[in-house]
Amino acid sequence: MYLKKRFMAAAIASALSVSTLSATATAGEVEVLHWWTSGGEAAAVSVLREMVEKEGHTWKDFAVAGGGGENTMTVLRARAVSGNPPSSAQIKGLEIQEWADLGFLANLEEVAKQEGWDDVLPPVVADIMKHYDYYVAVPVNVHRVNWMWVNPAALEKAGASVPTTLDELWETADKLKAAGIIPIAHGGQSWQDATVFESIALSAGGPEFFRKAFVEHDQDTLLSPQMETVFDQFRKAREYLDPGFPGRDWNIATSMVIKGEAGMQFMGDWAKGEFTAAGMEPGTDYLCLPFPGTEDAFAFNIDSLAMFMQRDADNVSAQQTMARLVLSPEFQETFNLNKGSIPVRLDQDMTPFDSCAKASMETFQSTSESGQGLVPSMAHGMSTTSAVQGAIYDVTTTFFNSSMSSQDAVRQLASAIRAAQ
Ligand code: BGC
Repeated sequence: MYLKKRFMAAAIASALSVSTLSATATAGEVEVLHWWTSGGEAAAVSVLREMVEKEGHTWKDFAVAGGGGENTMTVLRARAVSGNPPSSAQIKGLEIQEWADLGFLANLEEVAKQEGWDDVLPPVVADIMKHYDYYVAVPVNVHRVNWMWVNPAALEKAGASVPTTLDELWETADKLKAAGIIPIAHGGQSWQDATVFESIALSAGGPEFFRKAFVEHDQDTLLSPQMETVFDQFRKAREYLDPGFPGRDWNIATSMVIKGEAGMQFMGDWAKGEFTAAGMEPGTDYLCLPFPGTEDAFAFNIDSLAMFMQRDADNVSAQQTMARLVLSPEFQETFNLNKGSIPVRLDQDMTPFDSCAKASMETFQSTSESGQGLVPSMAHGMSTTSAVQGAIYDVTTTFFNSSMSSQDAVRQLASAIRAAQ
């Protein structure tokens, strides 16, 4: 299998007659495939576009709507199969390795060395960006997934307090419901279901349980009574949604919290980009809090741009310029202020960031240093292959939209994961 992959890699590289060496030319084009289309996301990505254009290169925007990126990945596969991949694509986690194994990705070592990427990136991030020992992708940010977004005025109206445990969460949800406010803003799409499911798993089971289930795929953990409890709690969340939830986009759900139609949303901190774009201030207009029971944990989701091999020297030059810009402190600051995430550079000045970002950075650093509580997000492609992730999505979404028992769900989850491995 390995040899076959290496052979394919060599064949694709020679078919494209690619040069990954630095180009002498200057003005080229980068075509960037991404799924950053909501208000906050679009504001963030336009920062990169402006910086690339300022360097004299052309930016060809290739945005595919659809939170979580499933649609984008489908489009990317189609383009790659037809021998015409874009020069850069938003690809994350283990999928970077899958594309690199197939021989599609360019070697970014030269720019990485020049810019000292190894010195400014946390090893947990650098490892994801490297194929063997060379960079094939550049990270743009670090998102924390286990967040809860709250409209404080809605809670006040309902006489409810901010929950810090799962039991308190359901009490708050009951009070909101009694006051005629939608307790939880949610969009019924597999990746959003999985996002809520993973925060509940982190809360009910803790980081070690999470790691055993979603990183190691340990069958005993997957089949444990604890996993049954996770499904019970996940089912409970279903009681607090409005009838319009199926198919709703995540940013529409965020806007329900912004308007006070709903009290809470469980979503990664790209949701903060929407509050920022709406001119709202954290701490007063909205609250960012760890998902109840996960204050010492950090489920990380790192966005990155992988670079595809290019034939044209000008385009190689544009691609390398973009890679360099992405890790510049200027880009890291402006992009992440708009995106809701935190910068990925260890030496970034956090002064311009708000209290949510500062809290996120603090937990990211403390969990990285202690080795306790930092877990890769399953729902966002950090913990496992796309095949296993897809299997988990199928079970969680089917369970959420049916009357399947938690016992059956646990059995199905364990066998679906085993089959997809
Ligand atoms: C990505 C974010 C994006 C979110 C919603 C996540 O998987 O990492 O960058 O904002 O999906 O589309």
